[in-house]
Amino acid sequence: MHAAKYSLISALVAATTASHIPHRAEQGLAVPQIWSSPLFKSSAPFHGPSSAKESTLTQSFQLHEPAPLLTSSAHSCSVTLVSRSFANSYGSPSTLSFDPRTAFAGTACSDPDEWTGLTLDVHGETRGRQFDRLGTVWVGNNATGQGVEVLRLDNPEPTKQGVYWSTKKDVGKYWPLWSQPADVVFDLPNIVDDTYTGALNVTLQLTASVQGSLSRAGRKRTHAGRIPALPLKQRAAHLVIPLSKRLQTGNSIFQLGGSAGNGTASVKVPHNAARALVEVYASGTAAEEFWYTGITDRFFNQIPDAAANGYYGHGPYREVQLYIDGAFAGFVTPYPVIFTGGINPLLWRPAANYGTFDQPTYTIDVTPFIGTLTDDQPHSFELAVVGSERGGVINDASWFVSGNVQVYLDSSDGRTTGKVIKATQGAEVVKGTTGGSIKGDPLTNGSLTYSVGLQVPRRFDVAGSVKTGSGKEYVAAWSQQAEYDNRGLVNATTQTNDQKSFGWTRSLVIDARHIDKVMGTLDFDAIQTLADAQDAKVQVSAVQMDYNYPLYVTSSLSNTSFDARIVEQFDRTVRRTGPGTDKDLTKMVGDETTLVHADPVAALPHAILSKRNADADSVLVNGAIANGTGTARQTYMYRDMAGGTIDRVTRTNTTNVLQDSLAGSVSARAQPGQLTVA
Ligand SMILES: *[C@@H]1O[C@H](CO)[C@@H](O)[C@H](O)[C@H]1NC(C)=O
Ligand SMILES: *[C@@H]1O[C@H](CO)[C@@H](O)[C@H](O)[C@H]1NC(C)=O
Ligand SMILES: *[C@@H]1O[C@H](CO)[C@@H](O)[C@H](O)[C@H]1NC(C)=O
Ligand SMILES: *[C@@H]1O[C@H](CO)[C@@H](O)[C@H](O)[C@H]1NC(C)=O
Ligand SMILES: *[C@@H]1O[C@H](CO)[C@@H](O)[C@H](O)[C@H]1NC(C)=O
Ligand SMILES: *[C@@H]1O[C@H](CO)[C@@H](O)[C@H](O)[C@H]1NC(C)=O
Ligand SMILES: *[C@@H]1O[C@H](CO)[C@@H](O)[C@H](O)[C@H]1NC(C)=O
Ligand SMILES: *[C@@H]1O[C@H](CO)[C@@H](O)[C@H](O)[C@H]1NC(C)=O
Repeated sequence: MHAAKYSLISALVAATTASHIPHRAEQGLAVPQIWSSPLFKSSAPFHGPSSAKESTLTQSFQLHEPAPLLTSSAHSCSVTLVSRSFANSYGSPSTLSFDPRTAFAGTACSDPDEWTGLTLDVHGETRGRQFDRLGTVWVGNNATGQGVEVLRLDNPEPTKQGVYWSTKKDVGKYWPLWSQPADVVFDLPNIVDDTYTGALNVTLQLTASVQGSLSRAGRKRTHAGRIPALPLKQRAAHLVIPLSKRLQTGNSIFQLGGSAGNGTASVKVPHNAARALVEVYASGTAAEEFWYTGITDRFFNQIPDAAANGYYGHGPYREVQLYIDGAFAGFVTPYPVIFTGGINPLLWRPAANYGTFDQPTYTIDVTPFIGTLTDDQPHSFELAVVGSERGGVINDASWFVSGNVQVYLDSSDGRTTGKVIKATQGAEVVKGTTGGSIKGDPLTNGSLTYSVGLQVPRRFDVAGSVKTGSGKEYVAAWSQQAEYDNRGLVNATTQTNDQKSFGWTRSLVIDARHIDKVMGTLDFDAIQTLADAQDAKVQVSAVQMDYNYPLYVTSSLSNTSFDARIVEQFDRTVRRTGPGTDKDLTKMVGDETTLVHADPVAALPHAILSKRNADADSVLVNGAIANGTGTARQTYMYRDMAGGTIDRVTRTNTTNVLQDSLAGSVSARAQPGQLTVA
């Protein structure tokens, strides 16, 4: 119950205040007004000397992979893109014209062709009372299009004393955009008034590095050591085309769902394109912020006051779909990003969950379609968000989605040809199941239990022939599978959802004769065995990402308490195989979901595993939060393709870091650095 209600409290629009939440008359229960609690008390704007600032602020953080990934940098140079106190910033993003040759003039990083690492660095400070806001950074130019989203962030909610946070994101895959004159937009819509006093003071920097190197932890001692990293120019895609509204000076996000429909962009790729990946940014907000708690329509329609009490319908399953010229091209299963005001803000202080300050993105390999895209004509790329209820319907306009197409060119100027030769038909229809039972009115004296699942695992396979101008000829394929289950409970005092969401995605390059054999039921290990066989009759290379995003969330309310508990995991592992076992790490783009394709590279599995357990207990007196505390335990494991490791355990309560056990071969590059323990 409260999870959905909390969308009212933590919604992006500050105008929505807790006082709009209706009371639950029969039980006499009312979700407390967070902002009247002493825990969330505001304070007058701070006017102290700026040098004293940082020492009075406490650190908020999110465990994060090193940036740049894989590479250590010999020299790095930072330029400030935006430094601003975001106060009343709705509809007024920061915009700038960026020219790398001017910005980095006179530094070791003045030639973008030599960059071996590139990061976006966010440093923020805020004090008082404020919501979590959704910020986005966009980069583009007039040649390939404005408005490629390159970072999506949330801020920590401030405290009376004030907090600061810092995050670095590897943006090496966007090298084609940052290496030439670009229009940059940083949108961080905030509202400051007498109640919500926290301005968001944020500095956004771009850091380029040169002469980076990789440490290779080869199995054989002779292979260990440091090797120079190839410049990004030789590793990143050749061009990055936006799937967005493409505004030069505005926020280009698509707000999708329900009557808002889908997001469509016209895409023209060069005729010598040899490989293309679509990257998707997607998160639920407003009516879809707590999408994983959505009640299935069959029961939602039987609860008279459900909407008035802050519950949402259309069930909890969501996927983002991609269509190319109307043909289904793949889907994305989102990880539930929970903002720092989500469910109960005490769950996220001072440690935000994985993916909060830098949201994860998702990749679909569209190379099977490449031969149909290289005709020098524009093609329609459409993004849709659907659920598993009748007609795939979700709540209106509440998914914030954008994307891009990363295009790799052939070495020749000749046209790439080919066509789709195999595709699962009807895969766009999500065949969901619902079960459960309702007794009485779940909001007063009754209860609802429900379950939502899939009739069969979601599966999509597509294969296309590819013949490049330089004469490479092969079949490119994309396969993916997703499994899903969600069990929900609603009564007057409790709301619980237990969601399982896991699966895999796979890019393949195969010689045409073996397509049926390789694209059938083989798992990754079997493909690897085929690829590794001495006689290697079947030429195949593959990149597979396995993912698992379980989420358990419960909240309970009484006249004297308001408690919440969450258990969530973000788990991705990328494995690769290919002929020749070319372990040329210097070719790595430095992003765990970048799928090395026509020119396969085999290396160590790349993995990120974050597990979070958090509890918040608040004491209510006369319906208001009198006091309370949150505790969180997070384990974090990082393994990169070059053998770098981080193993970390943090424990926090609302006021202190109680433990930070940080170990591993690249722990010196962990984000954040070693924390001070109380
Ligand atoms: C909560 O308090 C109200 C007002 O005192 C009372 O009427 C109601 O019965 C209480 N509810 C529960 C579940 O104890
Ligand atoms: C943010 O900037 C504003 C305007 O300069 C300043 O008044 C405020 O003290 C700053 N807040 C923090 C937390 O530093
Ligand atoms: C794109 O075109 C607009 C309008 O002519 C211009 O203002 C802007 O500077 C151009 N952007 C770049 C990156 O050249
Ligand atoms: C959005 O895409 C879905 C899935 O293809 C389709 O059913 C729906 O009609 C589209 N909506 C609009 C407004 O085009
Ligand atoms: C719940 O309360 C309503 C009246 O408020 C009553 O009609 C119904 O029978 C009750 N149901 C149960 C299961 O107690
Ligand atoms: C709601 O369900 C929870 C969990 O089953 C249970 O502990 C609680 O007593 C229930 N509350 C009501 C009012 O039925
Ligand atoms: C929280 O407030 C309640 C009611 O005033 C009090 O009984 C309890 O001891 C307080 N707990 C803490 C940890 O301060
Ligand atoms: C957090 O833990 C520290 C150290 O044990 C303790 O002093 C502090 O009171 C705790 N804070 C809360 C809100 O429980």
